[in-house]
Formats: sequence, structure tokens, C-alpha cells
Amino acid sequence: MAAFTTLTSLFVLLSLLSIANSGSIGINYGRVANNLPTPEEVVQLLKSQGINRVKLYDTDSAVLTALSGSNISVTVALPNEQLSDAASKQSFTDSWVQSNIIRYYPKTNIESIAVGNEVFVDPNNTTKFLVPAMKNVYASLVKYGVASSIKVSSPVALSALQNSYPSSSGSFKTDLIEPVIKPMLSFLKQSGSFLAVNIYPFFAYVANTDTISLDYALFRDNKGVTDPNNGLVYKSLFEAQIDAVYAAMKALNFDDVKMEITETGWPSKGDENETGASADNAAAYNGNLVKRVLTGSGTPLKPDEPLNVYLFALFNENQKPGPVSERNYGLFYPSKEKVYDIMLTREGLEAGPNNGSKSQVVKIPVPSPSSSPTPAPVVGGGVEESKVGAGCWRRCGGE
Ligand SMILES: *[C@@H]1O[C@H](CO)[C@@H](O)[C@H](O)[C@H]1NC(C)=O
Ligand SMILES: *[C@@H]1O[C@H](CO)[C@@H](O)[C@H](O)[C@H]1NC(C)=O
Ligand SMILES: *[C@@H]1O[C@H](CO)[C@@H](O)[C@H](O)[C@H]1NC(C)=O
Ligand SMILES: *[C@@H]1O[C@H](CO)[C@@H](O)[C@H](O)[C@H]1NC(C)=O
Ligand SMILES: *[C@@H]1O[C@H](CO)[C@@H](O)[C@H](O)[C@H]1NC(C)=O
Repeated sequence: MAAFTTLTSLFVLLSLLSIANSGSIGINYGRVANNLPTPEEVVQLLKSQGINRVKLYDTDSAVLTALSGSNISVTVALPNEQLSDAASKQSFTDSWVQSNIIRYYPKTNIESIAVGNEVFVDPNNTTKFLVPAMKNVYASLVKYGVASSIKVSSPVALSALQNSYPSSSGSFKTDLIEPVIKPMLSFLKQSGSFLAVNIYPFFAYVANTDTISLDYALFRDNKGVTDPNNGLVYKSLFEAQIDAVYAAMKALNFDDVKMEITETGWPSKGDENETGASADNAAAYNGNLVKRVLTGSGTPLKPDEPLNVYLFALFNENQKPGPVSERNYGLFYPSKEKVYDIMLTREGLEAGPNNGSKSQVVKIPVPSPSSSPTPAPVVGGGVEESKVGAGCWRRCGGE
């Protein structure tokens, strides 16, 4: 009995240790569509899938009300069109916070505010308003006594990087550093918040199918890519891109600011020239990503920093302009049927897709030295430019 208890304790301890550095999975609930289920139905869907973090692109009252009492953590957004007002008047952010946050909080568990979205690639250049707006929103949260529980950040597209390969040479675009990156990182550091980054290996892959292996982009078995400067070995483009952002922060002496991945995803359909957009690849990317996040540790550069990730997106959104892929990032159709079947929780992963033996250990893809074509030697800093459109058609234009 004593031995059994000891073993049990040991097992519990090991389980705890194994999840200590694992991260969290949330999902982006975009609503640029005319055929989506009601917010109440959506909350039921999220619960049925075990998803307990959701990110919105606004502060829609019906949505925030439906999320009330759900125990789902919520990130809301102040849209780009309001940045100039938010930057110029504290009275504006006071009343915005009052009517969009305080009115719902804490019954609706708002944990963070995205002030703007991919502001540096907003066609209506709002960059100069960003940090002043973030500071005003924060000051308003302080005024209402909720600044310690609600974080302020602003999702940045990966195209803010000048350089992303190799990861250790990651750097921000020179013209952004002094006007906005440094002030933003200072603000995030002082307020105990995190850098929010939207990362789409899909865009780098589409633009470089000749040099980036699909397996490397999809977290499948591959030889990995070694960073020549520090010897770190990357098994996925996603992790390499994250570490490029960490390196860019470090270059500015901000290596202590945390990071969250506020969007990532892979389309289940695309135009003819959007190589790699398919349901199988989307299922592989998102399925392997979820496994990686929930059962693995941090990245090669920051193994102890959990990966906190929001998938893009909950639904296919039929009113988004742009290439076919833009309307096909959803894990679900508006009917609430799955576009493809992947697990979204630790429990789901442990149960396994075949619903087999409970003791079966979750299999993280283990790279084998010879199973794939030569993986990506290059992920140029410029390749994510193609993300500009995807980021803005939907999100910069507002809901
Ligand atoms: C709320 O969520 C947290 C973590 O997401 C969980 O630990 C807790 O049990 C949940 N509470 C309820 C009442 O469901
Ligand atoms: C562009 O920004 C200005 C503020 O500088 C704002 O007045 C205007 O409405 C914005 N236009 C659009 C289309 O968002
Ligand atoms: C946006 O505005 C900033 C300063 O407000 C400026 O430095 C930058 O060049 C502008 N970018 C574009 C693309 O117009
Ligand atoms: C695909 O073709 C369209 C139309 O020619 C073009 O606008 C778009 O940039 C192309 N996309 C990629 C990923 O090459
Ligand atoms: C597991 O299998 C049982 C019976 O075979 C079924 O009722 C249950 O829904 C399955 N669960 C999952 C997660 O597939």
C-alpha cells in the first residue's frame, strides 16, 4: 500500500512536471460573415470543445453578454479606427473602458485588451497613435482599479521583422524601432504585459515552397534546421519564427518581456497558387500545433516559457475579401460542423483519436533523421510581406 501510494504520488508529480511548461490554446472568434451561429450557440460550441480562452476583434455587446459566467477567458479589442481618438483623449479611453470593459467585467472574464490589430500594416497608417493609445487605455484601467488583472497589448504581424532567418539574427524593421517598437516594449515591460504576435508559417511556405519543406511547416517529422549562430535545432518553422521575435527583442535589451501568439493558422482551401492550402494540411498544422503546445515545453531559445497560442480561427468567414484562403481558416463551418477533426484539449489528446487505451502516451512527432526532403534553409525576413493583405482585409478594416 505504501509502495502504491508512493508510486501514485510519483506519477502525479511527474504528470505535474510534464505539464509545468506546457502552454494554452485559445481561439479567435472572428465574425466577418453573415451566416454565423448566435453568440449563445458559439459559447456552447466553445465549451463543448473544451476551449477556455477566446479572442475577439471588438467588444460586441451580444458576444460579451453571452460569454458572461462562462468561465472562458476573453481578449477584447479596440479597433484601429479608434486609435487616434484613444491616443488623443484620456476622456475617450475612460468612457471606452467604462462601457466596454467595466460594464461586463468580471462576470465576463476579460483578461486582456488588444489595442489595435496589426497596426504597422494598417493601410490607414495609425502607427503613431499606437503607444499613446495603449497608455491611455492602461491609465483608464488603473482609474477603474482593474489594471492588475487586465493586460494591454497590441497584436503585431510578423512583417514587423526586418530579419527572421536564422532565428538568432531576428531584428525589427529599422524604421519601426525608435518610433514605436522601443516605446511599446517599455510600456509592456512596465505594465507587466506581453508582446502579442501573429505568426503564419503558411505565408512563408507559400512564398518559398522551393526552400521550405512542408513537413517543417506542418510540425511533421523532419531533419530540423540548425541555427548556425547558436547551434539550436528547430523542428518547426513556427518555433523558428517565434525565436526570431525573441532575438529581435533581445537585440533591443528587452529579453524579459513575455510573448503570446495571438493568431496562427492554416487555410483548408485556397486559390490555385496558394500552394499547401488544404484540409489535410490545415488539420496537420493545427492538430500538431495543439499537441506541441499542450504537451511540450517552450521554444529552443526559451524552453521554460510556455507557448500561449490563439488559433485562427473558429469559423470560416464568408464576407472576408481577398484570396480564397482568407475565407477558409476556420476549424468550423457556420453550421458548427468541423472542417476537419482535431483535438483541442489535453484530455482529448490523451483519449486519442482512436479512443484507445487510456494509458497510451500522447505521441509528439519525433523527428527522424532521414524522413523528409531537405528542410528550409531560408526563411527570409521579407517573405511575410504577403501577410500584409491577410492581416488587413479582415482585421484592419474592422468588423
Ligand atoms: C474555470 O476555469 C479554470 C481554468 O480554466 C478551471 O480550473 C476551473 O475549474 C473552472 N471553473 C469552473 C467553475 O468551471
Ligand atoms: C484613418 O485615420 C483617420 C485618423 O487619422 C480617421 O479620421 C479616419 O477615419 C481613418 N480612416 C479609415 C478608413 O479608417
Ligand atoms: C506610418 O507613419 C509613421 C509615423 O507616423 C511613419 O514613420 C511611417 O513611415 C508610415 N508608414 C507608412 C507605410 O506610411
Ligand atoms: C496568386 O495570384 C493572384 C492573382 O494573380 C495574385 O494576386 C496573388 O498575389 C497570388 N498569390 C500568391 C500567394 O502568389
Ligand atoms: C469513445 O468511445 C465510446 C464508446 O466506444 C464513445 O461513446 C465515446 O463517444 C468515444 N469518445 C471519443 C472522444 O471519441
